[in-house]
Amino acid sequence: SNNTQALKAKIREICQEKQAVILAHYYTDGDIQDVADFIGDSLALARKAADTDARVIVMCGVHFMAETCKLLCPDKLVLCPDPEAGCSLADSCRAEDLRKFKEEHPGYTIVSYVNTTAAVKALTDVVVTSGNAERIVSKLPQDAKILFGPDHNLGSYVNAVTGRQMALWNGGCHVHARFSVDAIAALKDKHPGAIVLAHPECKGPVLAAADVIGSTAVLLKYATEHPDATYIVATEAGILYEMKKKCPTTEFIPVPPEITEGAPGCSCNQCEYMKMNTLDKLYACLKNESPAIEIPQDIARDAVKPIIRMLEMS
Ligand code: 13P
Ligand code: SF4
Repeated sequence: SNNTQALKAKIREICQEKQAVILAHYYTDGDIQDVADFIGDSLALARKAADTDARVIVMCGVHFMAETCKLLCPDKLVLCPDPEAGCSLADSCRAEDLRKFKEEHPGYTIVSYVNTTAAVKALTDVVVTSGNAERIVSKLPQDAKILFGPDHNLGSYVNAVTGRQMALWNGGCHVHARFSVDAIAALKDKHPGAIVLAHPECKGPVLAAADVIGSTAVLLKYATEHPDATYIVATEAGILYEMKKKCPTTEFIPVPPEITEGAPGCSCNQCEYMKMNTLDKLYACLKNESPAIEIPQDIARDAVKPIIRMLEMS
């Protein structure tokens, strides 16, 4: 609408004024992706944050992503449109529980997915994302005793592709847990020859039915390089916005279908936390320079180390 367009123009204007950049994850609404300076997967967003010379960074994603920005740019003002935008996966590993594990199991190398709080990262040896987990785990000494957390599905997948036997935390993402093999099989029947793209946070049987497994950026890249196919997409449906933009004539089918019968407009393949980023909140946080991310110094000091190690190893 005209209002939306006007608000988007105001957001771009205030960014200029405040020397701010907007970083957005692929799972945010299309309107947010439209006004962002940069959209990416968790790894690309962390790299971008580390590189920017802007005064202000607005992270349109979820809370741990804004924390990662702040850890990498402690002197910058890092804003997030809604600090309540959490992550079920990050919530599945509490720092106190990880600390207890370490006390009870000394000698473990702790590998943590980027979807964790700063307090958990402070107890971690190296952070990984879905885009670099395989590479980083492969580089760790063969005889290392490793705990991988919190995503159990990603951990099992990395164990399978690297031949390691990492101990796994039992956490997961509620959105990716919803994708079923049955829904994929039904879509495959309807669209013979379609290629199944899946995020490694999906369950093992879903990954076994997938043709391409990878981070949002990896899935997007595959589709962009092979646009003459039909894709069944097993990850948060927000990614379809950029897929369709990059490949306007390609058919992308979300799993499960976006509109379920009897619940118009309601879909179970969206992350409600990512969708808490709205244009109104984005504009307000730029205008007020708040809410800003602050991380206690003792936690920040330890939490940045495994992120830097990730950036060096990936
Ligand atoms: P990516 O690293 O693929 O961007 O995934 C982040 C995420 O939150 C997946 O649910
Ligand atoms: Fe967290 Fe899942 Fe949302 Fe990704 S999709 S931010 S893992 S809750």
